Amino acid sequence: MEIIHFSAECYPVAKVGGLGDVVGALPKYQNKLGHVAKVVMPAYNTKFLFENEFEVVYDGWVRLGYNNLPVRIFREKTNKLGFDLFLVHIAGLLDRDKVYGYDDDTERFIAYQIASLDWIAQWEHKPDVIHCHDHHTGLIPFMVANSHKYSHLSYVPTVLTIHNGQYQGQFGWDKLHYLPAYDLRNSSKLDWASAINPLASAIKCAWRVTTVSQSYLDEISHKANGLESLLAQERGKSVGILNGIDNEVWNPQKDAMLTKGFNNRTVESGKKANKDQLCEIFNLDKSKPLFTFIGRLVGEKGADLLPDIFHNALYQSDGELNILVLGSGDTHVEDRLNDITNHYPGKYNAYIGYNETLSHQIYAGADFLLMPSRVEPCGLNQMYALRYGTIPIVRRIGGLKDTVIDIGDGGFGICHDQTSVWDVGDAIGRAYHLYQDQKRMKEIKKFIMGIDHSWDSAAQQYINLYQM
Ligand code: ADP
Ligand code: GLC
Repeated sequence: MEIIHFSAECYPVAKVGGLGDVVGALPKYQNKLGHVAKVVMPAYNTKFLFENEFEVVYDGWVRLGYNNLPVRIFREKTNKLGFDLFLVHIAGLLDRDKVYGYDDDTERFIAYQIASLDWIAQWEHKPDVIHCHDHHTGLIPFMVANSHKYSHLSYVPTVLTIHNGQYQGQFGWDKLHYLPAYDLRNSSKLDWASAINPLASAIKCAWRVTTVSQSYLDEISHKANGLESLLAQERGKSVGILNGIDNEVWNPQKDAMLTKGFNNRTVESGKKANKDQLCEIFNLDKSKPLFTFIGRLVGEKGADLLPDIFHNALYQSDGELNILVLGSGDTHVEDRLNDITNHYPGKYNAYIGYNETLSHQIYAGADFLLMPSRVEPCGLNQMYALRYGTIPIVRRIGGLKDTVIDIGDGGFGICHDQTSVWDVGDAIGRAYHLYQDQKRMKEIKKFIMGIDHSWDSAAQQYINLYQM
């Protein structure tokens, strides 16, 4: 089967969060199952573009409203990612340093989607499935089914995966002229709440919709930033498929980013070496438990509560624990997290920014990883933590609920019900007590490292879905 994945992110080409990890891994594991999965994404000015070799596979023009822009599509020459990678270059529009966050993101992602379909439409054969990820690619199912110029693609099945329903990419009807011509009687398939809403449109038009965990699918019929009724209505064609993790990239035994590699037999000495190094670099006390947070500092992740949670934990424990944060996002939260360093030197530190290497080192060196998310469609951090022998402390929501079982229920993690300072504080207290029982800690670490969250099963579940 030939599958084309469309996505704004793909690790290691460009990654902002978990979407990048998923699209960097799923196609590789689908290829291992004997299929031909490819990724088509925008060509940003990232390091990957300059450090690898490409060949040109398409030269053309994309029409965006009244403008015609030159398009060039490159293929990475060596197939080093385990799948064919195609980068869509549109000068002045896509060739930026960042993936998102520009005033013209609407235009950027529309142009990318049209240019990609223009290219595929002139292939001699048709792909078996088009798989779109999140709202940046959400107009594709509509265009494939309705645009006159893609009419011969209209029977190609389309799948939408919702990684995060909070972001929908909506824009005004005044920009309708950007889209290729279609029968205007079908306009309702683009509309939601009197705007063009790419995520809503994809939910309406894709042949199948998936979410990245079963619990998230259950939750979004009740809470999905305005799309609840639509998701409830389209529930019949929707399915939850829990993400996997790329065990080749996230392998504590072979991870070159770590101070020392380890497996579940050498977990104690391995984690100690990584923790010692982190404590050295960040001026922390290696004899005390290390609590960490890695992620985007946004409301969804409960990041606004972290400063109060950390103040309380450090104060109440009388300095008997350490906290290390890695993240970036809301500047107010960033400033408050930085400020705590002055109050608890030697017990707390924060790295504000994005640092892939440090994230690996923290998963390896930490004792506990906090995820007090308000919304968590899947969450990969808790799965990386498990694989690296770090005990997750998570809110029971979305994919966190599907992957972490509380120690009180015979499991291996610490779970709490609400994203509140009190609930998270209580969970930290339970973790602190667990840490005092080192025999139990050792058993749990060994156990969690062996939990299988590899892509093998999820990659096959997607294939089964395509076959349907
Ligand atoms: P989301 O996609 O909502 O941000 P996920 O848990 O699915 O959440 O994935 C987050 C991914 O981004 C993980 O690979 C995590 O390690 C990484 N990550 C998040 N913030 C940072 C950061 N500041 N530096 C390095 N990696 C980060
Ligand atoms: C989104 C979600 C996250 C999920 C990731 C990959 O960014 O917020 O929970 O793990 O996508 O699917």
